[in-house]
Amino acid sequence: MKIMIINGPNLNLLGVREPEIYGRETYADLLDKIRSHAKSLGVEVEFYQSNHEGDLVDCIQSTYRRCDGIVINPAAYTHTSIALLDAVKSVGVPTVEVHISNPDSREEFRRVSYIRQACVASICGHGTNGYLEAIDLLLSKR
Ligand code: DQA
Repeated sequence: MKIMIINGPNLNLLGVREPEIYGRETYADLLDKIRSHAKSLGVEVEFYQSNHEGDLVDCIQSTYRRCDGIVINPAAYTHTSIALLDAVKSVGVPTVEVHISNPDSREEFRRVSYIRQACVASICGHGTNGYLEAIDLLLSKR
């Protein structure tokens, strides 16, 4: 089983950006954590992070017939991007939306998630463990 792990804008600054909300783990720490969890499950993971919407669309498209699942934290594009929603719908790869914080309990503008309707599940507010839970969930649906 191969899962693509996609992170959107500003998540490369994990550990630096608003640590009171997103914690002190860095992006590199997050990748290590996911890598070792995936290894223990015998799951292959590929990572992608970009601050650019079109690049994220390209990455989602690249999973077509190549990956068995997507774990995506679209970050701020969650709340704005119909293009990411359409990309997930287009490839038909089972996708789990992850958020480190719980956007529903923050500002009003974070309450909309366009991508959610194309996802098999959304995991919010579980910190970086949410990524691991998303992998477990995709595995359980196989
Ligand atoms: C986030 C929540 C979003 O609202 C925000 O724009 C982010 C991170 C999260 O992981 O909690 O960049 O997706």
